[in-house]
Amino acid sequence: MNETLQVIDGRASLRHYADRPIGRPDIERIVESAMRAPTAGNMMLYTILEVADPAKKARLAETCGHSFIAAAPLVLLFLADMQRWVDFFDSNGVPASCAKEGRAYRTPDAGKLLMACSDALAAAENSVIAAESIGVGSCYVGDILGHAEEHRTLFDLPEFALPLALVCYGYRPKGAASERAERFDAKYIHHRDAYRRFSQGQLVEMPAHIEAKSARVLAERKTSLAELTYRNFMASPAACEQRRSVATLLAPWLRSGDTHRNS
Ligand SMILES: Cc1cc2nc3c(=O)[nH]c(=O)nc-3n(C[C@H](O)[C@H](O)[C@H](O)COP(=O)(O)O)c2cc1C
Repeated sequence: MNETLQVIDGRASLRHYADRPIGRPDIERIVESAMRAPTAGNMMLYTILEVADPAKKARLAETCGHSFIAAAPLVLLFLADMQRWVDFFDSNGVPASCAKEGRAYRTPDAGKLLMACSDALAAAENSVIAAESIGVGSCYVGDILGHAEEHRTLFDLPEFALPLALVCYGYRPKGAASERAERFDAKYIHHRDAYRRFSQGQLVEMPAHIEAKSARVLAERKTSLAELTYRNFMASPAACEQRRSVATLLAPWLRSGDTHRNS
């Protein structure tokens, strides 16, 4: 394995951080690596918002339900962002010229949101691998999709800047072990030429490693892995909040799927 593959293969999410700041040159290296990720049309449809204010970190720790956010030396919020381009179009008179020439003026729609999300996640993952390569661990926080209104206010987010990925970074505390989480067998993930559905037997076998690891919890709660995963991922209070919040986040992009005429 070369060094890049070793970094990718050895990475594990880090949720406890040494009480040691990340130097500004390393933060810049992490951000610049994020910015080298592939991006649709080289348009960089994202913004990287560094959350430095301890009060804002503490608030995020509460809204996202993870105390490690407050303790992380570096917290980056990756926004799927079309606002910068909308502002660029506006400031260069594009809506007015569309109106003058009787052309439709379109604001960003769901397709553009998916492009911006792809851009933002490619950048986020580049940052994670770059950080890992210089000894800085990290962890994504998916709960950033909840509490849309509060996050919008907290960070002054305009309507076409959507908080997609929150990533916390820091050094591993001395002596802390790193546990590399096992993955599903590649046959469940890597298909060729066409999508494959799996048989009942294969679906039983697929999460055997997770079941073995969670045997005690499952026995204590007298439940199955499917039930527990469903309840946690799909129907927990956090999942319900995410469902509500994401509808709010999507609204501007879905609304503007329509064509607007300015004349
Ligand atoms: C989109 C996304 C959202 C995640 N959200 C959380 C989270 O809210 N809290 C957390 O502790 N870990 C979160 N993680 C980290 C995963 O739990 C972790 O990647 C997974 O358990 C596999 O472990 P590994 O990263 O150590 O290989 C998230 C990861 C991704 C990619």
